[in-house]
Amino acid sequence: MVERVLDVEDLHMIYAGGVHAVRGISFEVNQGESVAIIGSSGSGKSTVLRCINRLIEPTGGKIFLKGEQINTPHTDVNDLRSRIGMVFQSFELFAHLRVLDNITLGLRHVKGMSKRDAEDEAMAVLERVDMLDRVDAYPGNLSGGQKQRVAIARALAMKPEVLLFDEPTSALDPELIGSVLETIRGLADEGMTMVVVTHEIGFARDVADRIIYMDQGVVAEEGASSIINDPQTDRLKKFLSSLHEDEVAEEGNGEKRS
Ligand SMILES: Nc1ncnc2c1ncn2[C@@H]1O[C@H](COP(=O)(O)OP(=O)(O)O)[C@@H](O)[C@H]1O
Ligand SMILES: [Mg+2]
Repeated sequence: MVERVLDVEDLHMIYAGGVHAVRGISFEVNQGESVAIIGSSGSGKSTVLRCINRLIEPTGGKIFLKGEQINTPHTDVNDLRSRIGMVFQSFELFAHLRVLDNITLGLRHVKGMSKRDAEDEAMAVLERVDMLDRVDAYPGNLSGGQKQRVAIARALAMKPEVLLFDEPTSALDPELIGSVLETIRGLADEGMTMVVVTHEIGFARDVADRIIYMDQGVVAEEGASSIINDPQTDRLKKFLSSLHEDEVAEEGNGEKRS
């Protein structure tokens, strides 16, 4: 039986300045599904993720986690954030804490685990992201790809019911992107339920069970990953061909550098 994990109904977000960033978005995510959200910059992708995680309050619509509405004044936001993990473009690690302590922090303070249990759990998740050899390092001494894998481990340690990624590879040098995408792909293969906002269209096509294409605050097209090769709307066709031009340009730059 299909279990619904997330249900977003007619979501709206009007920022204080008056920008209507999200204009009636609806989608659902089932247990074990990976859903990719693509779309040009400013189309409202981050706003949707921030609303789901209650980093901002949507101005309209409903969000349900396993059937329970979570955008209500009664929702326990700390509890919610341990059930919905989030991985940011900019990692958001604590610079003054070692890798191990970045991960045990939430386990001890939010989950109330003992130091010993938290460290055991941290070691287990660091192994999953291939970072066991850097447990004593400080974030400043890691590459961007390593930092992001630690951030993913930190989110995993909380055993979230769904994991949200907001452009997890956008801040990385090109040669570091692969290891992070591989880590995310591994989680998808293990059946982690996830929503991934990404500019990596090839990755979205290969890993996601479903693709949501956002444009100007609405879902302009949604479907199986086959829509990347066979877009049905003019808007998605145009978006994909604009990306293609960028990719060609980037390849050109890469050749010049090497
Ligand atoms: N804190 C904010 N205050 C006002 N406007 C914002 C804020 N954050 C985002 N926006 C605006 O909302 C729109 C959607 O932004 P965003 O969700 O970040 O898009 P994306 O992640 O797709 O690039 C943009 O026009 C952006 O300028
Ligand atoms: Mg964004």
